[in-house]
Amino acid sequence: MPKFILDGREIETAQGKTIIEAAYENGIEIPHFCWHPELSVAGNCRMCLVEVGNPKRDRDGNIEKDENGNPAIAFIPKLQIACATPVSEGMVVKSVSEKAVEAQEAVMEFLLINHPLDCPICDEAGECKLQEYAFNHSKGESRFIEEKNHKPKRQVWGPNVMFDAERCISCSRCIRFAKEVAKQDVLTFVQRGDHVSIDLFDGTVWDNPYSMNVIEICPVGALTSPDFRFKSRVWEMSFNPSISFADGSGSNTFLGVRNNKILRIQPRTNMHVNKYWLTDDARLNHYHFVNENRVTEPMVRVNNVLKKTTWEDAYSVFKEKLSKIIPESIMVLGSGKATNESNYMLKKFASDVLKTKNIDFLEHIDKGMEDDFLGCADRTPNSTGAKTIGLRNNGPVNKDNLVEKINSGQIKVLYLMEEDLDGYPEIYNAIDKLDMLIVHAYNDTELTRKAEIVFPASTYAESEGTYTNIHGRVQHFEPALVTKENLRTMGMKLSRWDAFGEKNDRWTKHELRSCRQSWKILSDLGKQYGKDWDYKKSKEVFNELAQNISEFNSMDYNLLDKHQGVELGKAANPDPVVINYTSHKLKPQNDENQFIYATYNAH
Ligand code: SF4
Ligand code: FES
Repeated sequence: MPKFILDGREIETAQGKTIIEAAYENGIEIPHFCWHPELSVAGNCRMCLVEVGNPKRDRDGNIEKDENGNPAIAFIPKLQIACATPVSEGMVVKSVSEKAVEAQEAVMEFLLINHPLDCPICDEAGECKLQEYAFNHSKGESRFIEEKNHKPKRQVWGPNVMFDAERCISCSRCIRFAKEVAKQDVLTFVQRGDHVSIDLFDGTVWDNPYSMNVIEICPVGALTSPDFRFKSRVWEMSFNPSISFADGSGSNTFLGVRNNKILRIQPRTNMHVNKYWLTDDARLNHYHFVNENRVTEPMVRVNNVLKKTTWEDAYSVFKEKLSKIIPESIMVLGSGKATNESNYMLKKFASDVLKTKNIDFLEHIDKGMEDDFLGCADRTPNSTGAKTIGLRNNGPVNKDNLVEKINSGQIKVLYLMEEDLDGYPEIYNAIDKLDMLIVHAYNDTELTRKAEIVFPASTYAESEGTYTNIHGRVQHFEPALVTKENLRTMGMKLSRWDAFGEKNDRWTKHELRSCRQSWKILSDLGKQYGKDWDYKKSKEVFNELAQNISEFNSMDYNLLDKHQGVELGKAANPDPVVINYTSHKLKPQNDENQFIYATYNAH
């Protein structure tokens, strides 16, 4: 383990680490553009230039001493790049010396020569590494009076990525990502000198399932998403940590929210799960249902028409209608989309209130989405949790014989929690033979319209809870959107702009939905039946679940947050807490586990 001195601080690091790695592991940022911890070292931006010295040795190999008796250091005349220089014993590195800072400022001046001044209309503004460094590591002036180079703009690389060649600083992160992580080696440098640009090899398209990750790692606004372009300035948004709803991978995400709508989903670093990456599918296809076409109030069927009503009325209608039904004719389906907390409450409600053993959940599998990284055949975020909690108990009626039991008249009531029956047409078609369908639903659909009672359920973006991914990792997440239920807590968390306008705000008229988390609906219903289920927070349900289900024993939200998730049965021995590298400091950092750079002034 070599020890070296960085800006006067002694640091011990593993053999083979480069200066930049050792620095960031100890909370020190050395400015850089092309380096990224998950990509090979390219060493082409020169932003990480530092002074490097090594102990002087005499002819016998002994370290020479200076006049104070300390090892004499011989500095290499030329500055070295910290991203490609391995640390060695006794090395001395200066990253904020006059010489180093002057070099970093010179690189910034060079990079900005041809970079367009279109920050006011650039999507990256507010979260741009170049913009940030222009502030922190540059003189703030240019001596360049000639015409800037002009290069192609709005080039379509693929379905989800657009390229603006003028903004590119030729760091090659995108090229290396394509080759090394996405394994689709289609990007390359073309031309030379100030004409250099990035291009696709002839006849290729950047259409990888991971293609949009280049947008995040691009240090400037050269790569943008057609899905997000010009939708919002990032400083008008809040970025709240969440877990991907797309599949069972448990990928960590940030939900970019403005005006109570999700505008963007992007990866949140978790080195134990998704590292720095996210699939395009997880970014693009799992937020529209949150923003649009929602069930916003409880509804009950009156004279064969669904009518909006109050929660209290919906609860009492439920009790009244269910009073005529024997337990054996009730089938309860939980969901791999619902949190562990909601599935736990559903199981409790089915056994303690409805007294039925008929409980199960449906899997949503698509083998075509599977790959050897984050792509996952399981299209729900929590089927592993649903199984672990015991929804699959092989009761007398289960998912396999449900249609037959409905058709034979044995099952008269179907209680569906956060399940849309997508991919199960035979169950959907049997619904008309039921006496009653009760749903906890997100959206207003054909299925919802068949129900006798509709409870509007909070989506993952409006809930606090946990999901268990396909590898058994339990991860906690909090709401990113405001509902009537979480108004008080979210009102403290979000700015007024992020959340929603008030009646007198003329700039917005977003709906404030009266949806509730399913565990809350079930505990309220339990109270109708005399149960003392007075859970006020998801945490209270989780704590009970963790006591009663052995795989969750000793888990709590604090432990899950600290370790960015804990595997089932491993609460006593969780994965170590690791440092998460953040490329763009101005990108969202409101996750406690994010690595925060040490601050120091280079000037
Ligand atoms: S497009 Fe972005 S990531 Fe790719 S080389 Fe240019 S600056 Fe780097
Ligand atoms: S980060 Fe070292 S040369 Fe680019």
